[in-house]
Amino acid sequence: MLLEVAGLHAHYGKSHILHGVDLAVPEGGIVSLLGRNGSGRSTTLKTMMGIVPASAGRVCLAERELTGLRPYSIARQGLGYVPEERLVFPNLSVEENLLMGVQPGQGGSERWTLEDMFRYFPRLEERRAMKAGTLSGGEQQMLTICRSLLGNPRVLLIDEPTEGLAPKIVEVVMEVILDIQRRGVAVVLVEQKLTIALKVAQRVFVMGHGEIVFRGTPEELRERPEIRRDWLEVS
Ligand SMILES: Nc1ncnc2c1ncn2[C@@H]1O[C@H](COP(=O)(O)OP(=O)(O)OP(=O)(O)O)[C@@H](O)[C@H]1O
Ligand SMILES: [Mg+2]
Repeated sequence: MLLEVAGLHAHYGKSHILHGVDLAVPEGGIVSLLGRNGSGRSTTLKTMMGIVPASAGRVCLAERELTGLRPYSIARQGLGYVPEERLVFPNLSVEENLLMGVQPGQGGSERWTLEDMFRYFPRLEERRAMKAGTLSGGEQQMLTICRSLLGNPRVLLIDEPTEGLAPKIVEVVMEVILDIQRRGVAVVLVEQKLTIALKVAQRVFVMGHGEIVFRGTPEELRERPEIRRDWLEVS
């Protein structure tokens, strides 16, 4: 396994949020992390990135332990992160925002270029000289994804990338995620839209109350309506 998370616990102050999360991501695979609002999906990604400190457990990338490192060191080790909140530098241009993300990355894999990003999202090229703060929410989302890719991660953690996007752009984002995988980058996808999550992933993890309550293939999840009812569908 390229990325392994074992027995991860995390707290916000006195609230115990993650209760021993185990996850494994194979080289070049797409894993979906599902669950209802508040189940701990974002906290899992943040704890993997070192943004929230782990109170127990470990995160290893290619057998190197990342637990306890600062977020920027974790990013340098090859973990990319697209947060739920679209984080752009509002007063920098689109192009400057992209250049801020450029990192050589690890290993000899093919590097992502600005041209690759503009091919995915022509709107960003049209707006390359504009201040990022003037972009729509969807465009800022595209920009955040692209900036993370330019860091040439080995694994990309993406938190709800299609949230609030028009259906046409959702399609594009899905294509980008599949293309990321074709280029050998593994993906951990937190995605509210079940059809998308099951379509792109080879493995699915369902979270409930800060724990993994189901792990299996998309096919196995389709055969377990009770898991969907108890842990995914909104009653
Ligand atoms: N900064 C914080 N301080 C205190 N509690 C928090 C904080 N962030 C999240 N929580 C709590 O931790 C729990 C898990 O939140 P998390 O953001 O990981 O959920 P999630 O699965 O990503 O769902 P969603 O994105 O729909 O909110 C929730 O009960 C939430 O209220
Ligand atoms: Mg979340």
